[in-house]
Amino acid sequence: MHRHQIVIVGGGLAGLRAAVEATSLGADCAVVSLVHPVRSHSGAAQGGINASLGNHPEGRDDNPDLHAFDTVKGSDYLGDQDAIRIMCQDAPGRIYEMEHWGTPFSRFDDGTIAQRALGGAGYPRACYGADKTGHYLLHTMFQQAIARGLTIYDEYYVQDLVVEGGACRGIVAYNLRRGTLEGFLGDAVIFATGGSGRVYGRSTSALINTGTGVGLAYQAGVPILDMEFVQFHPTTLYGTNILMTEGCRGEGGYLVNGQGERFMSKYAPNFMELAPRDLVARSIQTEINEGRGIEGKPYVDLDLRHLGEQVIEERLPGIRDICLHFAGIDPVETPIPIQPGQHYSMGGIDADYDGHTQLEGFFAAGECACVSVHGANRLGGNSLLETIVFGKRVGETAGKYVLGLEPRSEEIGSRAVADGVRALERRIEELTRRTSTEDPYEIRRLVTETMDDYVQVYRSGDGLERAVALLRELRERYPKVGVRATGLVFNLDVLRVLELERMLDVALAGAEGALAREESRGAHTRLDFPQRDDERWLQHTLAFWTPEGPRLDYKPVVIDQFEPQVRAY
Ligand code: FUM
Repeated sequence: MHRHQIVIVGGGLAGLRAAVEATSLGADCAVVSLVHPVRSHSGAAQGGINASLGNHPEGRDDNPDLHAFDTVKGSDYLGDQDAIRIMCQDAPGRIYEMEHWGTPFSRFDDGTIAQRALGGAGYPRACYGADKTGHYLLHTMFQQAIARGLTIYDEYYVQDLVVEGGACRGIVAYNLRRGTLEGFLGDAVIFATGGSGRVYGRSTSALINTGTGVGLAYQAGVPILDMEFVQFHPTTLYGTNILMTEGCRGEGGYLVNGQGERFMSKYAPNFMELAPRDLVARSIQTEINEGRGIEGKPYVDLDLRHLGEQVIEERLPGIRDICLHFAGIDPVETPIPIQPGQHYSMGGIDADYDGHTQLEGFFAAGECACVSVHGANRLGGNSLLETIVFGKRVGETAGKYVLGLEPRSEEIGSRAVADGVRALERRIEELTRRTSTEDPYEIRRLVTETMDDYVQVYRSGDGLERAVALLRELRERYPKVGVRATGLVFNLDVLRVLELERMLDVALAGAEGALAREESRGAHTRLDFPQRDDERWLQHTLAFWTPEGPRLDYKPVVIDQFEPQVRAY
């Protein structure tokens, strides 16, 4: 059995930032990750990271309050304003820290960190490294974590959160490389496991983002928050749904429909292509649904040609590469076919801005957590920021927590973790022995199809009822699945079957939350309830796991600075 004071699950930016902080305080930390940390999904973030540095000539008077206001308004007033204020105030410090640690940000001619406009912001506020911002930040953070002697267990799939005596005691994980099942005992466990995007088929998320962390916490009794709020990125490559960064529009790219119109003038005359994502995604979807896609097909064009080769090569080189390799087109010469696709989970494990959850010894940060700084709609550039602001805070919280514990017997938690390992052994043995009557890949396909079809940009009561019924039926079929491949070394069959259980839970929580919420707010757009309804719905949705499905409850939003207004862009 592995023993560490803090076991961090997830090797992306939030997990590594937590590790940097906690190890700096003197805590013994380990990161357990499904992939090598530098292959984490944080590395896929392209467009930028927000901080009110005021480096851009058109944003000299930017400040954390303006950043907070844009974030609250972008969230359609569902974000908690105390947490948002912390994030926006911390942002400049975190950016300079990353700069001093070696992140190769793009620069203005005067040597300051370059900033570009992203959607829903009144100012060009996103600091960036070409269109590889997440990649640069992640590699920098990895170096910092390694320099502090962090222990890393990569290619481990975490399958159980061990709770004993009302506190979290550790985790149980499947070591894919060795084919073994291993227990980790920890005085504290931090989840930084990323989002749940892969419950959708059309998604920009990495294949590892299936919602395991959210599902495990949920099943262990920790409530999950606002799961109905799912971000659809307006511009994903038609056919593969690879992200085409908002930086394309930040650099001046146009959205054009099949009639050659820059249609955003109808929907957001002031902000145009740089309106917030929920609004731009709805606008594109409307053009497509009403037959104004390119040649009537389900996509519109993202046109960068007027930017010229030099700007594209300098600021959007990754986009050009992706277009060349995955669509066979050069954006210097040809518009990019795009459509909205799932991009981000605004909802997640209910956590406060210091990373506490309702379970003693269990903490969460990053996309798997809902703090909530994004509310009903996240602004571009705030997710990378969230990872490093709240990653640092959760590392400090957990570090102080474990260092402040009274010395206790080595036995505490050991038996529960060992029992967890044995339970997983029995489970996998049973899965491989059982004659299955259900195909897990078919169930997985149906989950993603259901979410794509009914829990999408536009939702309706009928569609959501259908989604809930289908997901409930699939959940009932799940116990009859089995695995065909035997042996445990890199058995992806086993991995996919284990993931599927969490996917079903997470998808159902989202669909049930969406069905219950009879209003339109941010990314949650109900055709049958088209207005925002602050009287009834200015509240967060809590989902509690039960064997029959989610039990929903609600809690107030923290509103202590900006009174809700009608959003106009
Ligand atoms: O469009 C993008 O580059 C994505 C940024 C983000 O999700 O923050």
